[in-house]
Amino acid sequence: MIHQLVYYSRNTVQGGDRAMLTNLREIVSASQRNNSRDGVTGFLIFDKTWFVQILEGDKAQVVETYNRIARDTRHSTATILNVRDIEARFFPNWTMGGAMRTPEMEEIYLEHGIGSAMDPSRLKSAQVVALALDLQAFEQAKRQGQRLAG
Ligand SMILES: Cc1cc2nc3c(=O)[nH]c(=O)nc-3n(C[C@H](O)[C@H](O)[C@H](O)COP(=O)(O)O)c2cc1C
Repeated sequence: MIHQLVYYSRNTVQGGDRAMLTNLREIVSASQRNNSRDGVTGFLIFDKTWFVQILEGDKAQVVETYNRIARDTRHSTATILNVRDIEARFFPNWTMGGAMRTPEMEEIYLEHGIGSAMDPSRLKSAQVVALALDLQAFEQAKRQGQRLAG
């Protein structure tokens, strides 16, 4: 069984897009290093105000990872939306995939009933997982396109 945890938190990173991206790069590189060691996979959705993250793996590793993340001062008031056991990973290929909300993704957000501003406290965890799966597919297609173009 795989343990899956969905939480959201408030993004407290100050500054503009550039500061956001620098921080994100640090978070993603630490995540890739630790999560590949711990067998944790998942997806991180974020905008200037919120983080929403899905973590999956062995229960002990997911709990340990979440507890470490929750102490991070780059966000605050981490709130668990749901935990459950699943048969198989939803994000097997991502030690931590991530997508910052950009205008090119608006259609995907709209398809999931998320309009101008995301309010994670009103999201159902199933909605978060479904959105993340579509964002993952979008990111994958974009990367493939870049590879072809390059
Ligand atoms: C929104 C957010 C998501 C994060 N996700 C992960 C994660 O999936 N895995 C992880 O190891 N660290 C994650 N981090 C970073 C941890 O809080 C922490 O900085 C890091 O694990 C420390 O790693 P180190 O001890 O190897 O430097 C995240 C931080 C934030 C703010």
